[in-house]
Amino acid sequence: MSGALGTDTAVEPHERSDPAFPPQTGAPLPGRLIVPPPSADRFATSTAPGEPWTDDPYTQALRAGRGPLYLRRLGPRAHGEAELIPLEVERWCAAPDAADTDVLGRCAGPVLDVGCGPGRLVAALSSRGVTALGVDVSPAAVARTRHHGGTALRRSVFDRLPGEGRWGTVLLMDGNVGIGGDPSALLARLHDVVRPGGRLLAEAADDDVDQRLTVRVEDAHGHHGRPFPWARVGATALLRAADTAGWVLTGRWRADSRSFVELHRAT
Ligand SMILES: C[S@@+](CC[C@H](N)C(=O)[O-])C[C@H]1O[C@@H](n2cnc3c(N)ncnc32)[C@H](O)[C@@H]1O
Repeated sequence: MSGALGTDTAVEPHERSDPAFPPQTGAPLPGRLIVPPPSADRFATSTAPGEPWTDDPYTQALRAGRGPLYLRRLGPRAHGEAELIPLEVERWCAAPDAADTDVLGRCAGPVLDVGCGPGRLVAALSSRGVTALGVDVSPAAVARTRHHGGTALRRSVFDRLPGEGRWGTVLLMDGNVGIGGDPSALLARLHDVVRPGGRLLAEAADDDVDQRLTVRVEDAHGHHGRPFPWARVGATALLRAADTAGWVLTGRWRADSRSFVELHRAT
């Protein structure tokens, strides 16, 4: 990375590669939605209770480029709510679609993609000559982003980030407003990360929800990691949290059944 953000975007040597990450060949397979039936031993197949998105089936799904993969809702239980929230691994591992391309066109560099996953947006921005950095807690996500030509750092958005206060655009796509389980706290944190006059492009849930959840990542065989806090917010709840955090709404649109907002930090 170079340019407005200076040298503190440098990647630590230990963050450069994931030797276990194999080169990807061919297009990702289309996803199949297989919902595992509840079973008595479902919870007995856990991987070691390490870090969410790292010591759970997310790593394997990113390496394979496909699911099926879910967030299992552990609480609070709500009548009529699906227990499994599908994670769209195939779409995340594919090239940007029309809705993504629309978002990319609204980015002013330099761009920070928070929870970049396998990095389709970071790679696309880089190939357009826009300075972009992905941050993600998952080593497999960081490895895959780099493999596809993007720059990525293994780090939590709640830890110190390179170029704080200087990013032109921050991206919060694919449900990532749920990171940390407290959208107001996340949006306040990102308000400090973007430069004055900079923007946040955020994707909301496509239904009108405002939920604080405990979830875990789980595959179709019941393998799972440990529980962690998550949130699901539709546009109304997202805008309420954004307003509290000091963001100004400058755009709102839907594309491919996905819901997006554009927010600005006042100059
Ligand atoms: C719902 S997935 C979205 C994936 C993604 N946007 C994509 O294109 O693949 C959430 C992503 O956020 C990452 N994540 C979770 N908590 C995080 C945190 N505290 N800081 C940074 N990334 C985080 C996960 O590792 C995962 O890649």
